[in-house]
Amino acid sequence: MSHLLFLPFFFIIAISAQSKNSTYPNCRPVNCGTVNISYPFWKMDTESTAQFCGYDGFGINCSDTGDQFISQITLGGDSYYVREINYAFGTIFLADYDVSPAATDRNNCPRVRHGINLGTLPLNFSMYSVNLSFHFECNGCPSFATEIPCLDNNGGKSCVHNMSTSTEETADWEEYSCDQEVVTTVYREYINMSPNFYSEYSRILEGGFGMQWRTMDIDDCEKCEESGGRCGRQVTTELLCFCSDGTIGRRDCKGTIVTIL
Ligand SMILES: *[C@@H]1O[C@H](CO)[C@@H](O)[C@H](O)[C@H]1NC(C)=O
Ligand SMILES: *[C@@H]1O[C@H](CO)[C@@H](O)[C@H](O)[C@H]1NC(C)=O
Ligand SMILES: *[C@@H]1O[C@H](CO)[C@@H](O)[C@H](O)[C@H]1NC(C)=O
Ligand SMILES: *[C@@H]1O[C@H](CO)[C@@H](O)[C@H](O)[C@H]1NC(C)=O
Ligand SMILES: *[C@@H]1O[C@H](CO)[C@@H](O)[C@H](O)[C@H]1NC(C)=O
Ligand SMILES: *[C@@H]1O[C@H](CO)[C@@H](O)[C@H](O)[C@H]1NC(C)=O
Repeated sequence: MSHLLFLPFFFIIAISAQSKNSTYPNCRPVNCGTVNISYPFWKMDTESTAQFCGYDGFGINCSDTGDQFISQITLGGDSYYVREINYAFGTIFLADYDVSPAATDRNNCPRVRHGINLGTLPLNFSMYSVNLSFHFECNGCPSFATEIPCLDNNGGKSCVHNMSTSTEETADWEEYSCDQEVVTTVYREYINMSPNFYSEYSRILEGGFGMQWRTMDIDDCEKCEESGGRCGRQVTTELLCFCSDGTIGRRDCKGTIVTIL
């Protein structure tokens, strides 16, 4: 599985980050297969879920299937594969687990089941995103949409349209009496939605999307980072601030130092 295939060329030619050699003994980067898990992400395991250095909700579940390592993150209760984390661009590349070959019994015919719910996580979609709107169990597909015949069900038609190409007419699905609409986000690609989109859509969905993270601005995390620390938490307690010398502050790297048992 070559995740690079899915990345637009401008990410590939990017110069890698000149990372500072800071120590932060409590925040060591780890690799999960090819995915580098570093602050503000953290690897979930029994040890680090008791105490972790990273943002809430940025825990990555690394599992070993025997022939590969799988990195997964949960957003809004839904599971996504982590393809790559680029620290130079502050961008994480994800793909919906439901549309991956592993989760799809129908060959090359994945069905999106949910939208992408970011909740309050400090993430936003990369500028290279477009939204695709899937409609299921319709009595026909409008001319501005593309039918996905392999997803038709009991005569109900499945259609998709690219919301970035919307004009006012594309908002009108009423006469097609669809049962369900799911909007998902993918890379913007230089392809036309029709006629080739149908043959391409599983590849496009599997390619996933990119998101940029920003500073966590709740629970004093900003204060911690401004003082040179890294935010974290111990199970249910309030913020912990991990400092570069290995000490742990209560709010930042200037104040009270706490000792974690
Ligand atoms: C980073 O710092 C550590 C500890 O001071 C040192 O052992 C290591 O060689 C440094 N690495 C680089 C790439 O400078
Ligand atoms: C992972 O990325 C971080 C941040 O750029 C860097 O400091 C670290 O050396 C990388 N770790 C590995 C194992 O590549
Ligand atoms: C991590 O993923 C594995 C495999 O999907 C699952 O069995 C395990 O419960 C997950 N662990 C956590 C902490 O979510
Ligand atoms: C993401 O959020 C940051 C901070 O709120 C903002 O500056 C940036 O423009 C946003 N990016 C996109 C692509 O919306
Ligand atoms: C796609 O939809 C999401 C969620 O509604 C929204 O935040 C985002 O800005 C949309 N992206 C584009 C490119 O329209
Ligand atoms: C969706 O529309 C945008 C804007 O017109 C276009 O660049 C892109 O190629 C289209 N399709 C996909 C899958 O990105």
